[in-house]
Amino acid sequence: MMKSEIINRNNFLKQIGFSGAALFAVMCAGGTMSSCQNESGVTPLAGDITLDLTASQYAALLKNGGYVVLSSQNVVVARTNTGTYAAVTLICSHEQQRQITYRTSEFYCTAHGARFDNSGKGLNSEGKKGLTVYQTSVSGNILTIKAS
Ligand code: FES
Repeated sequence: MMKSEIINRNNFLKQIGFSGAALFAVMCAGGTMSSCQNESGVTPLAGDITLDLTASQYAALLKNGGYVVLSSQNVVVARTNTGTYAAVTLICSHEQQRQITYRTSEFYCTAHGARFDNSGKGLNSEGKKGLTVYQTSVSGNILTIKAS
């Protein structure tokens, strides 16, 4: 399917009254799940992600301000300065670069400097569209990033 066809279908569905989650559901139903993206270009998680915080590759998540990029799932997870966990998409809402990082208690895109708080709210003009955030929970040493 060509990009112009997707845009035309999107605009058509909006014109007949679909919006938000309903529009997203219709768009997903019309394509394959592997190609299903919302309007911000973020692909929904295929399922919950669980991380064993005792594993060496996640050691950065044991200290406040540390973060890990899960590039195959397009997720960035960080331990905030208050010791809670925050997870967001790796894909920036500014120009869809996969360059979200974490620094000084906020998410930051290294492409053009978009800044987002721990809830995904944009903090400057590049970040004004916000970031998709995922719920997290911790049970013992297991951190779960929830798909929905
Ligand atoms: S793509 Fe992230 S700031 Fe431009």
